[in-house]
Amino acid sequence: MEPLCVHVNRSANVKLISTVAVLILIGLSAVLTQLNPVGNATASAWLEFIGTLHPMLLHLPIGLWFGVLFLLMYRSRNATYHIWVVRGATLVFACGLLAFATGWMLYFSGTYGTSSLKPHMYSAWSFVAASGAFLIFARTDARLSILWCAAVVVSLAIGAAGHIGGVITHGSPMNKAPWKTVEKAGNVQSEEMWPAELEVASDQPLVFNELILPVLGDKCIFCHGNRRARGNLNLSSMALILEGGTSGPALVDGDPQASLLIQRITLPLEHEHHMPPEGQYQLEGNEEELLVWWVSNGIHATMDQVPGEFLPASTADQ
Ligand code: HEC
Repeated sequence: MEPLCVHVNRSANVKLISTVAVLILIGLSAVLTQLNPVGNATASAWLEFIGTLHPMLLHLPIGLWFGVLFLLMYRSRNATYHIWVVRGATLVFACGLLAFATGWMLYFSGTYGTSSLKPHMYSAWSFVAASGAFLIFARTDARLSILWCAAVVVSLAIGAAGHIGGVITHGSPMNKAPWKTVEKAGNVQSEEMWPAELEVASDQPLVFNELILPVLGDKCIFCHGNRRARGNLNLSSMALILEGGTSGPALVDGDPQASLLIQRITLPLEHEHHMPPEGQYQLEGNEEELLVWWVSNGIHATMDQVPGEFLPASTADQ
């Protein structure tokens, strides 16, 4: 009988140790979500560099989790599959941690807006915690009904994390709905140009139409238009500019300092949030001053108010 007892004790110890290890990893990940991004450019560049692995790694736990659900169905009928559920759940948990760690590096690098990232980070952590709990239940031979309940929670968490993450990178899937895109195609200005409440009846041409839209069209629409809207920001109409992107409205009428659009273009070129990003066609001549002047004077400014230096003729003279 002796060897059997030793065996039972050892496997009980292994179970205990692995349970504690999983709990520690879940706890550590929770602590990470509470840290604030680094303010150091070199550290941030390294974090972002390693974080580029995130889009590759994040699909592993998603795919593997479907495998575990499949195995769990077999296990429900035949207990000999249990060991494969445990192995699969171990892989899911390990890959989930890797995806979480690399995603966290992107958050910690501070190059993504933290407010937009947090819901994704918290739901990703819920997935790490739920898949860890599932693993513990599977390893400690919990009842099948408990395993299925845990599996439902893991599936909900991975669904939420995946969806919110997808919206951050690709925008809301509904933006790509055919009834929206087909109507837009080939017609940049098919959107309502101004929000109804801001529409003005002026006999003077608006600076926005005459001078601002051409600059945005030249330097920004490539990334912030109907075809693609980086940062979820479309700059092709006043209504869309005010609607803004991931971080909220891009403009505060009359207040350039509070306007995200102005903040981004006036950052130093090497700043990672400078717009247009380094290496792209930059604002030239006095385009930056023109944008600042326009926001300070109100988005309804008309051409008769524009100082001569901003008029096309004198810009051409420069
Ligand atoms: C080559 C592509 C590219 C061009 C050109 C570009 N941007 Fe961006 N822009 C991005 C990307 C990518 C993001 C999202 C990442 C970030 O926030 O830095 C972004 C984000 C922004 C945001 C923040 C959106 C939000 O709500 O978080 C603003 C404002 C912005 N851009 C303004 C501009 C303006 C103004 C121009 C033209 C002068 C411009 N961008 C040109 C790629 C571009």
